[in-house]
Amino acid sequence: MQSTARTRVWDIPTRLFHWLLVLLLIVLFVTGKLGGNWLEWHRRAGFSVLGLIAFRMVWGFAGSYHARFTNFVRRPGLVREYAKGVMRGDSARYVGHNPLGAISVVAMLGVLFIQALLGLFSNDDLMLEGPYARLVSKAVSDQLTTLHKWNADLILILVGIHLAAIAFAYFYRKENLVIAMFTGEKMLPESESNSDAEKESERPAWLAWVIGACVATATYLLLNK
Ligand code: HEM
Ligand code: HEM
Repeated sequence: MQSTARTRVWDIPTRLFHWLLVLLLIVLFVTGKLGGNWLEWHRRAGFSVLGLIAFRMVWGFAGSYHARFTNFVRRPGLVREYAKGVMRGDSARYVGHNPLGAISVVAMLGVLFIQALLGLFSNDDLMLEGPYARLVSKAVSDQLTTLHKWNADLILILVGIHLAAIAFAYFYRKENLVIAMFTGEKMLPESESNSDAEKESERPAWLAWVIGACVATATYLLLNK
C-alpha cells in the first residue's frame, strides 16, 4: 500500500481569512435584511469584508505557495481538461485549489469586492448611507443600492455552488476538503504531497501581520468619513 504524508496546504492567514469571511457574511445578510438600527453593524461588517478581501488580494501575491494566485489560477485549456476528467470520473488531484475551484474562488472574491464597493454608495433612505453616497446624486445612489441588492443574490448563488462542489468532492471523490480548511493539512499519498520548494514557501506570521495592519489602516482612513 502507498504510504501517506501530512501535507501543508492552507497557511493560517488563508484559513483565518476564510472563516472570518464566512462569519461576516452571515452578519451582513442578517443585518442587511433586518435593516433599521442593524445597519450600523452592517456598515462595520461591510468595511471589515472590504479590508479582508484587500488583504487576500495582497496575500494572493505575497502568501505561501497554495495561497498564491499564480499557483492555482490555470490556463483555460487545463480547466477544460480537468472538467472533462471530472465528467469521466478520473480527474487529476490537486494539493491546493483545483482548476475549477480556482474559478469559483476568483469569482467569489470579485463579486464580494464589488458588493462592498456598491455598499459604499448605497443608502436605505433612513438609517444608513455609505461613506461615498454623497459623491453621487440620490438617483444614482438609489440605482447602486438596487445593484447592491441584486449582487447579494449573486453571492448566494456562488456560495451555493461552492458548497455543492465541496459536497461533490466529499460524496463522489471521498475527499474531505473542509478539515483542511480548519487544520491547514491534508493526508496525501507521498507521490502527491508538496515538493521541497512548496514546503519552503511557508511565509512567516509577521508578514501577514504587517500586511494586515497596513490594509486595516488604509481601510479605516479611506472609509471613516
Ligand atoms: C459565506 C460563505 C462562504 C464564502 C463566501 C466562501 C468563500 C471561499 C473562498 C473565497 C475560498 C478560497 C480560499 C482562499 O484561497 O483564500 C474558499 C475555500 C474553501 N471553502 Fe469556503 N466559503 C464560504 C463558506 C464555506 C463553508 C460553509 C465551508 C464548509 C462547509 C467552506 C469550505 C471551504 C473549503 C473546504 C475551501 C477550500 C476548497 C479547496 O480545497 O479548494 N466554505 N471559500
Ligand atoms: C460584501 C459586503 C456586503 C454584503 C454581502 C452586503 C449585503 C447586503 C444585503 C444582503 C442587503 C439586503 C438586501 C435586500 O434587502 O434585499 C444589504 C443592504 C444594504 N447594504 Fe449591504 N452588504 C455589504 C456591504 C455594505 C457596505 C460596505 C455598506 C455601506 C456602508 C452597505 C450598505 C447597505 C445599505 C444602505 C443597505 C440597505 C438597503 C435598503 O434596505 O434599502 N452594504 N446589503
